[in-house]
Amino acid sequence: MNSTLATNGRNGHTTHLPFGEKRDGPLFNQHILSVKQFDQNDLDQIFVVADEMRLMVQRVGSFDLLKGKVLAVLFYEPSTRTSSSFIAAIQRLGGSIIPINEVKYSSVAKGESLPDTIRTLEAYADVIVLRHPETGAAALAATYAHKPIINAGDGVGEHPTQALLDLFTILEERGKIAGSTVTMLGDLKYGRTVHSLARLLARYDVKLNYVSPEALRMPAELVDELNAHGVKQHQAHSLDEVLGETDVLYVTRVQKERFANLDDYEAVKGSYVITPEIMARARADMILMHPLPRVGEISQAVDDDPRAAYFRQVEYGMYVRMALLAMVLGKA
Ligand code: CP
Repeated sequence: MNSTLATNGRNGHTTHLPFGEKRDGPLFNQHILSVKQFDQNDLDQIFVVADEMRLMVQRVGSFDLLKGKVLAVLFYEPSTRTSSSFIAAIQRLGGSIIPINEVKYSSVAKGESLPDTIRTLEAYADVIVLRHPETGAAALAATYAHKPIINAGDGVGEHPTQALLDLFTILEERGKIAGSTVTMLGDLKYGRTVHSLARLLARYDVKLNYVSPEALRMPAELVDELNAHGVKQHQAHSLDEVLGETDVLYVTRVQKERFANLDDYEAVKGSYVITPEIMARARADMILMHPLPRVGEISQAVDDDPRAAYFRQVEYGMYVRMALLAMVLGKA
């Protein structure tokens, strides 16, 4: 049986735990692969701990909750926020990192396989954060790993920690999720953040509006999956059609790197831009979110609008990732 070593907090003895067994909190020793794995109790606890992390950072900056713990950051695709926020998170908790932010300078460039890379890094680290261009790569890595794997984005599949921070942002900014109308605008086909976020929002009483170029619509399988859970979904013809009822406007960029044909990308890029004129027609209490990076879909002229939440969203991400690391490592 796949097993891992764990320390019993009461007597300090080292014991063998079946890997994935729940002990010392809901996420202890768990992989974070998909938002599908979370139950409501998990979500509630993550947000409580993230709030505690925010208070602690505001009070003391950093503290030694994860002193001695090592995080391997293994990214096969570019990243600013996810990689940096995980690094900041473990450092603010007193831990340290193995940074492989650019695999071309690692033995991956010599042809080393993902399983061998994971088996190597887990010899040094307590937890591994993985971003990979192939859907299912994090789940594959998890089948070889004896330490927790955290999915930091797998192709067009999922980005579960982004969805958690997105949900936390809505909670912090609006005080509640239930009853909200969330409009997703942009590349809903390839945008993994919207796939994960839609699945998480489906657990609450929300309405989801989809606005996108025809070629970039929300995948039919995901729409069917959410329909089966009774989620209210609406494919809108334009943003204007749904702007007035929107509580949360979640914008994504067109994912250029996912297009097989650049002409197809050129045909849809720049087809939507949030401007001050659009914000003037939106609700006074709406929030505007974006996972970032943006490449023109939100005008910089909107940045000073208090409803523009995307840079606050970045900060919330660090608190959520601090919470996840603490919980996965049994210290929350
Ligand atoms: N939101 C997000 O995943 O950003 P990065 O690609 O910069 O990590």
